[in-house]
Amino acid sequence: MHSSSKIKQNTFADDVMRGLSATPKFLSSKYFYDNEGSRLFQEIMKLPEYYLTRAEFEVFSRQTDEIFSAFNADNSPFDLIELGAGDGTKTSFLVSYFLKQNADFTYVPIDISAEALNTLTAKFEKEFPQLLMQTEKGDYFKTLETLSTKSSKRKIILFLGSNIGNFRQKQAQEFFRELRAVMNKDDLLFIGFDLQKDPQTILDAYSDKQGVTAAFNINLLKRINRELGANFDPKEFSHYAIYHPIEGAARSFLISQKKQTVFIKSLNKNFDFEAWEPIFMEISQKYSLKMIAELAKESGFQIEKNFFDSKNYYTDSLWKPV
Ligand code: AVI
Repeated sequence: MHSSSKIKQNTFADDVMRGLSATPKFLSSKYFYDNEGSRLFQEIMKLPEYYLTRAEFEVFSRQTDEIFSAFNADNSPFDLIELGAGDGTKTSFLVSYFLKQNADFTYVPIDISAEALNTLTAKFEKEFPQLLMQTEKGDYFKTLETLSTKSSKRKIILFLGSNIGNFRQKQAQEFFRELRAVMNKDDLLFIGFDLQKDPQTILDAYSDKQGVTAAFNINLLKRINRELGANFDPKEFSHYAIYHPIEGAARSFLISQKKQTVFIKSLNKNFDFEAWEPIFMEISQKYSLKMIAELAKESGFQIEKNFFDSKNYYTDSLWKPV
């Protein structure tokens, strides 16, 4: 997903072709976030079962001062760079506090969605008229490389919301290594990890009673219909989530309810589904503290401090390059 800038980026059509031609079939969850998908994700974040957002919000709201002190130890100016900023709700807490403390910083949200960035800019400009802000649309690494050449200030990079959970462990390591390569010794990286806990609590978060997570997954089939001219019948697929406590991974699938064939016009190809055949949609990796420590070490960082919510469901981990 986050391959080096030299490699050609796959298009949506390429990835759908590859995923639906594979055995077992898969689709990439990075395509969940069209307008409707982003709206459904906002709904998910409010669900009683989806504890992740509330846990991270609690960390930010109760430990704002400790976080600020850890970021601002030497009082030097910094760029507060947020990867995949989304609507910036959690970050607004930090931003507001940092401004009150007269910190010398520029907020730099990076996102691939122009729409997300526009909404965020409008909101922050209204809420924080004194905030220095520089939005960057595009791929994380390309943007970070250019930022490094544009600004000599310290970088504090935020990667929140357990977004790292949607990477396989090997991808996560590669991702952090690439980040390490564009960071200097006095930069910092702040990452939100969802922790391993009672498996039932995790499973419930990915199979909510109201069916919002199901709609979120099904929405990708609707997107393929709309953007690639396919004829998926969303009613003929159902959402199924599992949590594997040894791997610490939640996985989502869409299950074909019958033997059926779907035609995708842009690919000029039929795809056959057996009855009960799954499409693997998403991984949401949960971490132990040991896994986090290993990941930091293997990718060239040391952990400065882990910030926890009151239930120890979640941690925001502050890393420093070694
Ligand atoms: C964005 N990401 C961290 C979410 C997660 O928890 O894996 C996406 C999500 N999928 C289903 N519910 C939420």
